[in-house]
Amino acid sequence: MVEERESLTNHLRAEIDAWTARFPKDQKQSAVLGALSAVQHEHGWLSTELMDAVADYLGMPRIAIYEVATFYSMYELEPVGRHSISVCTNVSCMLRGSEEIVAHLEKKLGIKTGQSTPDGRFYLKQEEECLAACCGAPMIQVDHVYHENLTPNKVDEILDKLD
Ligand code: FES
Repeated sequence: MVEERESLTNHLRAEIDAWTARFPKDQKQSAVLGALSAVQHEHGWLSTELMDAVADYLGMPRIAIYEVATFYSMYELEPVGRHSISVCTNVSCMLRGSEEIVAHLEKKLGIKTGQSTPDGRFYLKQEEECLAACCGAPMIQVDHVYHENLTPNKVDEILDKLD
């Protein structure tokens, strides 16, 4: 039996093309962040095969893609829960109660940071460094959305609305 290899869908190729169009023709590699984000958005995480496919499509060495994907905390290199929750625990958020937010999330979801819920609904990422929303501390990012000035009750309201 021939193993089917993951590859880029037409939709993803079009998205990557849109990213590369923003840069000079001889600098396609500048689209790497957008390309990896698009792949993760469609697949939920970045498998080695998909990273290789991006490397081939952008004409980059595969190792260069791995370097980018492992450097930025926004990329997931293994399957995770559907909704990604990032809690900022840097100074402003720490002073305004982020420890309580982390403890509340761990208790509510029954997992520790870095884990996903068994039903695949949530992924509680490792604590984040400053997410540049210090004025709204404490804050979390859920998928692509920032939520600020949090209390445990507000966290419940946010998560309970998600599928
Ligand atoms: S310290 Fe949390 S957003 Fe800046």
